[in-house]
Amino acid sequence: MNHLIVVAHPSVDSFTMGLARSYADELQELGHRQQTCDLYRIGFDPVLAAQELSPIGDGHSAPADVLKAQDGIRAADVLTVIYPLWWLSMPAILKGYIDRVFARGFAYQSHNGVVRGLLAGKKAVLITVSGAPLPLLVKSGGWNAVQVLQDTHVFRSAGFELLEHLHFDEVVPQLPKAVAEQHLERARCCARRHFPQAS
Ligand SMILES: Cc1cc2nc3c(=O)[nH]c(=O)nc-3n(C[C@H](O)[C@H](O)[C@H](O)COP(=O)(O)O)c2cc1C
Repeated sequence: MNHLIVVAHPSVDSFTMGLARSYADELQELGHRQQTCDLYRIGFDPVLAAQELSPIGDGHSAPADVLKAQDGIRAADVLTVIYPLWWLSMPAILKGYIDRVFARGFAYQSHNGVVRGLLAGKKAVLITVSGAPLPLLVKSGGWNAVQVLQDTHVFRSAGFELLEHLHFDEVVPQLPKAVAEQHLERARCCARRHFPQAS
């Protein structure tokens, strides 16, 4: 299988980036083809420009960085997106990637306000991180908001079959090394659970 991993975190040595590396290493060991799109390191521009709102085919084509990102998704059987929850949402750079790359005509069509996902047939995995304990997020309604707005409104709406949303809660700066290592093993397990050894 072809995997595209999109990751959003400014620090290379963050827990989030460690998750992305462990998950990618596991896919590699399982014999899958995988590529990581590290949004901060490639300096992805998250700002959608006015001309990108014109309908495709209206004598304009999407900018080169968007076309390249869309090619990456087109070539992938599985998209895995790894990010910390910031204000219970995505880091702005990832939100901008969604705004620009999941464009009308590529990720969805809409008619009379009814959206049809164009990426059906592809699978997605979400891996997120929060400082707050998950039970607290569930109690406040925040976790439901995450699921409705991110899992469903973005990824399922675009047609992806969401295989799993794996979440790591209580990830704080003083996270004991042993706990961090257990978490990294859970990310590796997630890869093994869904994607058996390629022959
Ligand atoms: C700008 C910002 C906003 C955040 N907002 C939240 C939040 O709304 N809820 C939460 O539980 N954690 C929040 N966090 C904590 C992160 O989700 C995460 O736990 C933390 O960044 C640890 O992961 P890392 O080491 O990979 O950065 C926030 C962190 C930052 C920097």
